[in-house]
Amino acid sequence: MTETDFVLDQYSQIDSGSHTWSSPSNIALVKYWGKKDNQIPANSSISFTLDNCKTVTTLRYSKKDHADDFSFEVFLDGDKKDSFKPKIETFFKRIEAYVPFLRDYHFVIETANTFPHSSGIASSASGMSALALCLMSIEKELIGANVILSEAEESYFIKKASFLARLGSGSACRSIEGDLVVWGEHQDIQGSSDLFGVKYPFEVHKNFKNYQDTILLVDKGEKQVSSTVGHGLMHNHPFAEERFKQAHDNLSTLINVFKAGDLDTFISIVESEALTLHAMMMASMPYFILMKPNTLEIINKIWVFRQETGSKVCFTLDAGANVHVLYPEAECEQVCEFIKNELVAHCQNGQYICDQIGFGARLMKNE
Ligand code: PMV
Repeated sequence: MTETDFVLDQYSQIDSGSHTWSSPSNIALVKYWGKKDNQIPANSSISFTLDNCKTVTTLRYSKKDHADDFSFEVFLDGDKKDSFKPKIETFFKRIEAYVPFLRDYHFVIETANTFPHSSGIASSASGMSALALCLMSIEKELIGANVILSEAEESYFIKKASFLARLGSGSACRSIEGDLVVWGEHQDIQGSSDLFGVKYPFEVHKNFKNYQDTILLVDKGEKQVSSTVGHGLMHNHPFAEERFKQAHDNLSTLINVFKAGDLDTFISIVESEALTLHAMMMASMPYFILMKPNTLEIINKIWVFRQETGSKVCFTLDAGANVHVLYPEAECEQVCEFIKNELVAHCQNGQYICDQIGFGARLMKNE
């Protein structure tokens, strides 16, 4: 598919309505870090969709008299949030060509996260994907589609929602479905695309079913480096080309790992990806260290625990100090004890979030 497949050219008019979607966050196993123009990723990535960490967004729309500037208000947990407006305005500008009805309506966006906004957990993936899905529900109404879509229509709806979400925040395109999603063209994965995320199409061993992710909140502060700046630092980065190739090769290797249930190779790829992401930041100009002393304490304790017990627990990181502790469902009891006894002491105010692999976004309400 190409961008032109997502242009909506004919649509009818409806006075008003509202749609509510819940959409989860996701955690990348092979990281996306570096992009080309129009939110095209420099390398393919793969993520686990999460279950508990999500955004619920209601989008109310009412017809305006004149289709002039974008007109919208945003509320977070019931409070007006004008600070969110510039990001949404940018999003609207980027997607206008594909959802031309944006200027025809006044929108009220009411959004809430299941995790604390200031937790340092990126809400852009869940937030942008929830908003993209609400817009797709409007599109569905405006084209007069049946309530129950055919298989082909449903597939288009999901692809376009992911396509729009990507234009809000790259990683958001991996939040529409679950439980494993690939984004970025990869020769070993049929159907993969730079334009949207697709469900991982191959066999996954039972070792990876219901995989657990406990998120340790090490630093709840504002992001030191925005994603936009971070991705930008991969331009003219001395190690960029090697890094993009490495991500590509890691994704190829993961295909056999998922099939065979090979937890040891999974651990080495996932941890290497996390550390490489941070190594890229440390080696860029300007350079950043986003890990905190407690991030390293946690990583070292995980390594010792693994060595002493033979556990298959491992970690990954976002572009921040928080640690995602990943482990098979079968190890839940043992690893949760370890987290409580040894790792929680390194969290800010002892805070952490228990999550696991989830299956994507859900429609909550149409009115
Ligand atoms: O979606 P963005 O532009 O916020 O970038 C996210 C980048 C990482 O979270 C660090 C990695 C990833 O693949 O999710």
